[in-house]
Amino acid sequence: MKVVIARELLPAGVEELHDSYTVVANGLDCERQQLLESVAGADAIVSDPTVAVDGELLDAAGPQLKVVANFAVGTDNIDLEACSARDVVATNTPDVLTNATAELAVGLTLAAARQITGSERRLRNGEWKGWDPGDFLGFELSGATIGVVGMGRIGRRYGELMSGFGGKLLYSSKSSKPDIESELTAHRVEMEELLTHSDVVSLHLPSSPDTRHLIGAEALATMKSTAVLVNTGRGALVDGEALADALENGVIGAAGLDVYESEPDVPQRLLDAPNTALTPHIGSATHKSRDDMARLVARNVNGVLGGTGAVTPLH
Ligand code: 8YV
Repeated sequence: MKVVIARELLPAGVEELHDSYTVVANGLDCERQQLLESVAGADAIVSDPTVAVDGELLDAAGPQLKVVANFAVGTDNIDLEACSARDVVATNTPDVLTNATAELAVGLTLAAARQITGSERRLRNGEWKGWDPGDFLGFELSGATIGVVGMGRIGRRYGELMSGFGGKLLYSSKSSKPDIESELTAHRVEMEELLTHSDVVSLHLPSSPDTRHLIGAEALATMKSTAVLVNTGRGALVDGEALADALENGVIGAAGLDVYESEPDVPQRLLDAPNTALTPHIGSATHKSRDDMARLVARNVNGVLGGTGAVTPLH
């Protein structure tokens, strides 16, 4: 059987792929046409968030295709209906990256609230002219109101970690989470109330047509002028131009971002803004998390091709 890795899978995963498979890896620079040709005859495709898994790709593989294993928890790159229509199982990598991603969100929260990266940039550029008691002022997280948008696995872990600072926790979510409310003393509120009262707004939602540009000009105008926006979910949750406007005009205080709508392109105005802490989509980038993700991808492939079933099927 043939397993095609659309781009790259870490060795921890490749090692677990069954010896009897023919494993083909296209590499990180694989173009779409090369991908379409390489998947012909594949029984399994290993994808990642940069790979559009649509009807065209599935058909290019052929009717023997049984599984698409995504190296990510997010699934916005996968057309699940197209997979179902062709009896192809799609899988993702939940849980194993929850902690790593939540910790990065905490890091971005601190970096934005305390201007860690903005002040570092001025220092590195030789623009630090001496200690100034009024320079680089931020706010403390103890006593801050933290708004968690989306209380799934990663939102919950972020809330847990942030509660250690001793502030107040608000969250918005489709359903109420009584266990989290009592465990973390969190209050479920409507989105508008969360935006109005939070010192930090952190996004932990999947990307979908419903959540596209959830944070746009209107939402930003509702936030405090000192507030920090954190996004480790998906770039499409935020209207990047509206965010750049808000940062330039003091509508909000700062942003900590790991994801962007047109990755790897980042709007120049966000790059130039002094009050942004920016990382290149590294939410799950710890050795442990990425190795565990790679192994889970392999187990999903092995499970489907071996007939025992996927470990983390999406449908
Ligand atoms: C990246 C992520 O996908 O899991 C997700 O949805 O966004 C990240 O974990 C990961 O870095 C692999 O590309």
